[in-house]
Amino acid sequence: MCGIVGYIGKREIKSRLIEGLRELEYRGYDSAGIAVMQQGRIESFKAVGKLSNLEEKTKEFSTEGLGVGIGHTRWATHGKPTELNAHPHMGEYSYVVHNGIIENYREIKQMLEKEGITFLSQTDTEVIVHLFELEAERHGDLFEAFKATIEQLDGAYAVLLVTQKAPDTIFFARKGSPMIIGRNGRGEIFFASSDAPLIGEAEEVAYMEDGTVGYVTPDRLHADPEPLLFVPLSGDKVTAQKGGYRFFMEKEIYEQYEVMSDTMIGRVLDDDIAFEEIDAAFLEDISRIKICACGTSYHAALASSYLFERLSKIPVNVEIASEFRYKEPLLTDDTLFIVISQSGETADTLEALKMAKEAGLKTLAVCNVDNSSIVRLADATILTRAGIEKGVASTKAFATQVMVLWMLSLFFAKKRGSMEGEAMREELRFMHYVPKVLQKSLEVHEKCKRLSKRYLHGHGFFFIGRDLFYPLALEGALKLKEISYLHAEGYPAGEMKHGPIALADAELFTIALMPKTLLYDKTKSNVEELSARDSTILSISPEMFELADDFILTHPHNHPMLEFFEMMVVEQLLAMEIAIRLGNDVDMPRNLAKSVTVE
Ligand code: AGP
Repeated sequence: MCGIVGYIGKREIKSRLIEGLRELEYRGYDSAGIAVMQQGRIESFKAVGKLSNLEEKTKEFSTEGLGVGIGHTRWATHGKPTELNAHPHMGEYSYVVHNGIIENYREIKQMLEKEGITFLSQTDTEVIVHLFELEAERHGDLFEAFKATIEQLDGAYAVLLVTQKAPDTIFFARKGSPMIIGRNGRGEIFFASSDAPLIGEAEEVAYMEDGTVGYVTPDRLHADPEPLLFVPLSGDKVTAQKGGYRFFMEKEIYEQYEVMSDTMIGRVLDDDIAFEEIDAAFLEDISRIKICACGTSYHAALASSYLFERLSKIPVNVEIASEFRYKEPLLTDDTLFIVISQSGETADTLEALKMAKEAGLKTLAVCNVDNSSIVRLADATILTRAGIEKGVASTKAFATQVMVLWMLSLFFAKKRGSMEGEAMREELRFMHYVPKVLQKSLEVHEKCKRLSKRYLHGHGFFFIGRDLFYPLALEGALKLKEISYLHAEGYPAGEMKHGPIALADAELFTIALMPKTLLYDKTKSNVEELSARDSTILSISPEMFELADDFILTHPHNHPMLEFFEMMVVEQLLAMEIAIRLGNDVDMPRNLAKSVTVE
């Protein structure tokens, strides 16, 4: 969703804000804007589209000396991506930026219009600044006015507000949407929606809890209800850069074999799986698992359901979080509730977790961002250690999620006695081999580049697979949809003949995942049915398939998970090369955002 930043300090304010927004642009890029205040004078700039348009607009503007500033990069929820709807939104003498959704904005707007206030935009956010100024007349004390404003808001929000009536102050509030405050020894204060913009700037940060309202000046920081808890911030800017690759997505695909070693280190042993985050006691009284997630994380969950049932012999039920929220699910306290999320901020997954906690279930998060809202709420968390993922299309986070879930299934298997001894050691030997598989699978990149030119048009794609490879087919289709804007579906290979095969003709591209170690002959006969109806077949398999129009040969492996990870990389590279050939920005595909913090 949106990205917001704030700064108080003596360095050039505009560039602090723009540099911060650059690190958050993957969260939303419909428009961007800043407001800068010095000696009570406020300058504000807004531009539609990418941050580069705002940079162009502000190139003549700069500041010197102490001042405050707020900035925003937008993913439109209410009101089209126009300059009027871009943030910051202004009142008579105040400016506000906001990430989230004010659900009762219509009622507030009607009340304010009755007070004679005119609105410039179609956004929900604009009500905040006008309500603040109304409350300021009533209260006089600006912090009391700000608190009174926030109390009237329903929904999710991270808000930063500046006002000429308090020239050196930033007012802040957080509920549902993420907000981090940072500071350093130079007396500078930073705000951001994630810690990426704070790396290399702030020495310590505080991750705001829901319900936090406060204000900060160069010499005073006040927060209700609790003083903010600051922790040191590590990390370096270099890893956050593109490192010579064309896109962050490409860099993150190539990083998978390295980050996978980080995910496994200290956890995948020669004869066991160990997690410092959970122990055997954590599984006591657990006889079933329910997993909730969205998008790519949901596909990782679905893949893991085959592993938990096959290896751990524990029943698993996988839910799409946005559906789970309103189905009044039957939850039993012998259920371990697992949520999976790269960002740790996805609203539907976060709310599903809250429901499970309210129902008294034991909860476990598999997440990539430490200190995110989901991490702070779950009873225990296993971090995927994939590092910052900037490409909106998730790649390395998916790979490490699947690995952690495979590790969890072996951890449960050992605790439940469904796998041990040599069988366990053999499974772990295959697991240790995954980083090598991920590295070798990059060898097909050139082939994907060449093939991509033949898969640019047609009337659609079906990615098909069986068993574990059905969720992988779903993931391949999602990757292609997200960045190429071509229509694609993932489908169980055996299900095609129950309807979708009606779409088969030469213009229908079938990407067939054909692993040798799992149901090869069954999948082959399903692909033959499609070939018989003239569908254009691209087979991804260690075995040449005579009926395929094109093929990508993968390495022969003796374990389905090794084939899974290799075919995952092939799907990622193929989708990326098709999108690049179509001239798309694969890091910031249209209409999408990296973490979805609204419903
Ligand atoms: C995946 O490429 C997409 N960015 C999207 O489907 C994503 O997986 C989904 O929004 C869930 O995000 P999360 O893992 O951060 O919760």
